[in-house]
Amino acid sequence: MATKKEPTTGLRKLLEDQLADIYFAEKQLVKALPTMVKAANHPELRAAFEEHLEETKVQVERIERVFEALDLPAKPKTCPAILGILQECNELMEEFADDDALDAALVDGGRKVEHYEIATYSSLCAWAEQLGLYDAAGLLKENLEEEQAADEKLSGIGEEVIAATGPDDEEGELVEADDDDRALAGQRAGKRTPAAVSKRATNGSARKTSSSGRKR
Ligand SMILES: [Fe+2]
Ligand SMILES: [Fe+2]
Repeated sequence: MATKKEPTTGLRKLLEDQLADIYFAEKQLVKALPTMVKAANHPELRAAFEEHLEETKVQVERIERVFEALDLPAKPKTCPAILGILQECNELMEEFADDDALDAALVDGGRKVEHYEIATYSSLCAWAEQLGLYDAAGLLKENLEEEQAADEKLSGIGEEVIAATGPDDEEGELVEADDDDRALAGQRAGKRTPAAVSKRATNGSARKTSSSGRKR
């Protein structure tokens, strides 16, 4: 005769709760990533999102295997955090749709997602190990490592994207802005660099670009 399951408590309850949370988050990401793939301009960024979409589908399956290992039905629990991050990402995609900083905005949104996932999977792995649930811990670790790799990849692509959307060098403005930035850095560090000295001599007229390097 089947016995009624006792409600869980403590770390086991927390594990089940956050497993349902990340299950919801991953399913949302399977829906959201195709939009990010379409929006990305940089070929490496597009490829990274495409690759992570495929990984995310596998991650969903792994979570279902974790539920199975815990003898639980796979049931998502609404994760307001991922909904908020994705909403912010959607807003940026709209706001920067025709702007050359769109890819930088997408890298930012993608990395915010990865950091949320990394935090959750790190906790889940630690709790599963503490509870002696080694099969579950192994599966969760696989997801964690994919998120860490995705974050590193996005971070590298981010550097390229920023370089590609940097200031133009029309009429030598790039050089002047660089000197100006070095002068300011020197002043902050309490040093008087040659650039800082010449900046004072020219009374700050060199700065024609904003701090992001884009012309105003
Ligand atoms: Fe994921
Ligand atoms: Fe991810």
